[in-house]
Amino acid sequence: FGNKLHFYLNGSSVEIDNPDPDITLLNYVQSIGLTGTKLGCAEGACGACTIMISSYDKKSDKISHISTNACLTPLCSIDGKHVVTIEGIGNVKNPHPIQERLALLHGSQCGFCTPGVVMSLYSLLRNNPNPSEEEAEGCFDGNLCRCTGYRPILDAAKTFAN
Ligand code: FES
Ligand code: FES
Repeated sequence: FGNKLHFYLNGSSVEIDNPDPDITLLNYVQSIGLTGTKLGCAEGACGACTIMISSYDKKSDKISHISTNACLTPLCSIDGKHVVTIEGIGNVKNPHPIQERLALLHGSQCGFCTPGVVMSLYSLLRNNPNPSEEEAEGCFDGNLCRCTGYRPILDAAKTFAN
């Protein structure tokens, strides 16, 4: 037996024997080469490490999607859940529409905040494909950007809103 952690990462099943209780989800994904998720503040304040965690709720028989700061998420807390990182939704050759519109509308400059920005909007759209402009704006409450002044990010996000 021993301690076994089982979860899904970008659609693939992952099992880890005796996981280190001190390691964060951010440390883990970076350690296996998924370096699109960024380390900014390491204390839940900047959103550069935003990923999506999906889980099934038996009571409501629904899957909920939550954007979360991977820097504060213990790896061991994701047992039975599905983690999606930026690598799971798109890349330069095959960008997700969120990435495409952010680029076209100049919502990414240095790019450090961009994976987190994308994952925040992606999580919103997974729960609510037709958000209002306010909801689209609200999903970025935890994402800091030092470059764009936010306006181009919001412009791109609002193209997905009603
Ligand atoms: Fe800043 Fe996680 S690195 S919120
Ligand atoms: Fe540089 Fe946002 S584009 S921090």
